[in-house]
Amino acid sequence: MTQRTLVLLKPDTVRRGLVGQVLARFEAKGLTLVAMQLRHVDAELADTHYAEHVERDFYPPLRDFVTSGPLVALVLEGDEAIEVVRSLNGATDGRKAAPGTIRGDLALSNRENLVHGSDSTESAEREIGIWFPDL
Ligand code: CMP
Repeated sequence: MTQRTLVLLKPDTVRRGLVGQVLARFEAKGLTLVAMQLRHVDAELADTHYAEHVERDFYPPLRDFVTSGPLVALVLEGDEAIEVVRSLNGATDGRKAAPGTIRGDLALSNRENLVHGSDSTESAEREIGIWFPDL
């Protein structure tokens, strides 16, 4: 089934100059770029996006991180795009993510893990609405 998913190339991806490399992996897989924007995220947008995590112990430093510099938000479309993106991203913790995945190859942290991908059809719909209300 064709799906759309919300992807964030987090501030570490921009800072480390990996935007092109990471985007190339999604494109090479065959996913279609539907929308893309460089965004400076404030605390309010971070809290809205990560609503399910705001009470967690790890959230305050996560908020500091996602607001620490520009990130790239994008919408990708393709067959089973939500699961495909999550499998390309790899496990949350870059230290444990399998080689061959974006995090497994390029990240060494649980927080600064380069990418975010929606985790379900409901999340994708909610997150695309937050970042790209015109879509
Ligand atoms: P993401 O896929 O964007 O979803 C929630 C984010 O919280 C996750 O990627 C990580 O950046 C971060 N995260 C999740 N668990 C932890 C944790 N235990 N410690 C620090 N950061 C975390």
